[in-house]
Amino acid sequence: MLTWEELEGECLRCTHCGLCRTRHNVVFGVGPRDADVMFVGEGPGEQEDLRGEPFVGPAGKLLDDMLCIIDLGRHNCYIANIVKCRPPRNRDPQEPEQEACIGYLRNQVALVKPKIIVCLGRIAAMKLIQPDYRITRDHGTWTERNGVSLTAIYHPSALLRDPSKRPETFEDLLSLRERIRKVNAKV
Ligand code: URA
Repeated sequence: MLTWEELEGECLRCTHCGLCRTRHNVVFGVGPRDADVMFVGEGPGEQEDLRGEPFVGPAGKLLDDMLCIIDLGRHNCYIANIVKCRPPRNRDPQEPEQEACIGYLRNQVALVKPKIIVCLGRIAAMKLIQPDYRITRDHGTWTERNGVSLTAIYHPSALLRDPSKRPETFEDLLSLRERIRKVNAKV
């Protein structure tokens, strides 16, 4: 396991997959490095790539609003992605790209030691919870692994495309708030 400094250094110089050729910035992750709650998206979009920060585009604005509903925010959550470089035209990150990058996220998780991990959308849920995860069926359900509570909610981009999913996500956020209370996570 690398230290934060080593990990960030390696990640910023990474050439493990082809996404390094089209990126403007590596989007490493943000938030308190001892957060008890961690959010994981799929990969940077255009704004994130330009700024080097996760969830700063339209989906990020909605994510901030979602967090605010249950008194969370960037000050008390760590936010990262499965892949750290933008897939061209925002396509899904391919399996080899995810595999090339997942070690960075695993190292981040080992350093942060969150009590709760919330996957944002299908891609993160399939990678972190189970390969046959189906977001429409399984969102909001909880899994326990190595003392960490894991769940997935709809990706904010999906909620922007289809607002009819928002009431279910509201329920999932309430469930997250309850889990935070239950595991005594600091927020
Ligand atoms: N979508 C993601 O999955 N991650 C980001 O950082 C931005 C948009």
